[in-house]
Amino acid sequence: MLETGARAYRIRGGRPLNGAIRAQTAKNAVSKQLVASLLTAEPCRLLDVPDISEIELALGMLMEIGATVSRDGSGAIDIQTADIASTAIGQRYSGVNRLPVLLIAPLLHRAGVARVPVVGGDHIGERPIDFHVALLEQMGARIDADRDGYTAKADRLRGAVIHLPYPSVGATENAIQAACLADGTTVIHNAAIEPEIVDTVLFLQKMGALIQIETDRKIVIEGVDRLSGTTHRPIADRIEVASFAMAAVATGGRVRIAGADQRTMVTFLNVLRKVGGGFEIVDDAITFFRAGDALRPIHIETDVHPGFMTDWQQPMVTLLTQAEGVSVLHETVYENRFGYTRTLNDMGANIALSTACLGGKPCRFRERNFPHSAVVQGATPLVGRRIEVPDLRAGFAYLLAALIAEGQSEVLGARFIERGYADIPGRLASIGADIDVVPSLESDLAAQ
Ligand code: EPU
Repeated sequence: MLETGARAYRIRGGRPLNGAIRAQTAKNAVSKQLVASLLTAEPCRLLDVPDISEIELALGMLMEIGATVSRDGSGAIDIQTADIASTAIGQRYSGVNRLPVLLIAPLLHRAGVARVPVVGGDHIGERPIDFHVALLEQMGARIDADRDGYTAKADRLRGAVIHLPYPSVGATENAIQAACLADGTTVIHNAAIEPEIVDTVLFLQKMGALIQIETDRKIVIEGVDRLSGTTHRPIADRIEVASFAMAAVATGGRVRIAGADQRTMVTFLNVLRKVGGGFEIVDDAITFFRAGDALRPIHIETDVHPGFMTDWQQPMVTLLTQAEGVSVLHETVYENRFGYTRTLNDMGANIALSTACLGGKPCRFRERNFPHSAVVQGATPLVGRRIEVPDLRAGFAYLLAALIAEGQSEVLGARFIERGYADIPGRLASIGADIDVVPSLESDLAAQ
């Protein structure tokens, strides 16, 4: 299901969501673990892999390299790359996501050469890969960039002391993967420590890697000679859990999410409580609901972990359109992640963007003219509309807007949402949403 086709969701809003769902495992852990499986010739098994198109993309790239993949009905994926069949990732993967740059280090370890296309992903900022290139070069890779991609060569990668200019998730993952089988020790300073990274570290430790997460964003990796196959159940998707949690609160319903993990969501749960959301944590499930009558405004600054995730920001803005008063959001991770608010305004929201830093956190976008702060004046009723999804997380913000809006919405570009959220129509319908899938010509055009 590489191309999910031209689909739209038709939603009639105004119904509270009530019921129970199970959290999927984290897209941003599973996809990296599939890539990391390339560090061994032995078989690896990942359990409960979500049925999302991002995973299909990852598997497609890995199969091009020579991976054999099999699945059983339980959601488990067995993957093994006994031999490297190709060291090049095809141009058809150019610009689709962030994974090609993470394939460089495993390919260098296995074959000494890698050719990957230009990386892409959601259009939420420039998203350069300068940190990745610099750290790989520091570890001994020679990298040539041309218009279509990157060619990397290295007989051996060697340990290095890496200072990341910013705690980038992808660059940290790249350095860890490169370091596991490198000669000597690698130290990463200013590393990202997102739970998905820690989960991939656990996966690599099971494979035989020596990775130490120390205090102050320092990760130390001692290179080993070989890694072996393993089995792993990835962590729950804290972005998906938060998205459904906000849907429960915004619609005034009550949703139990099995598998939701409080430990990875402490910051989100604090914010949700402050805005008037309620939650109960029992065993391995969290139930979300509206705690009082009115939602309250709040000031949020997105940040790297353990801060408020940039991927929680978009549905939170939709939720805050329903809070009484002025909320302020300062986005410090991506410079251009508020474009979707225009459509919310078209639906009746009152959101103003500002290039100023509306908050006190250190921010790389200060005085650089990026509209990276938002002021939300609530509460405003929303009205159903025909809306076109620009990217994955904005997509859920629109779904949420459609769920609380008066009347009918048509959400075009479902394929963006289906990159990261499994079976949205089925799962939303199972908790009471009035949603169905319709063909859509418009998203066909957008896909080109
Ligand atoms: N950055 C650079 N140079 C680099 C790398 C990053 O300047 O070489 C900058 C980026 O432009 C951005 C910041 O550093 O401003 C953070 O980017 P990071 O590298 O941390 O992000 P990423 O690894 O590309 C992952 C997730 C994103 C998530 C971010 C932040 C995956 C596949 N993607 O992206 O998830 O928003 O970390 O937590 O893991 C999503 O799931 O919808 C999504 C966009």
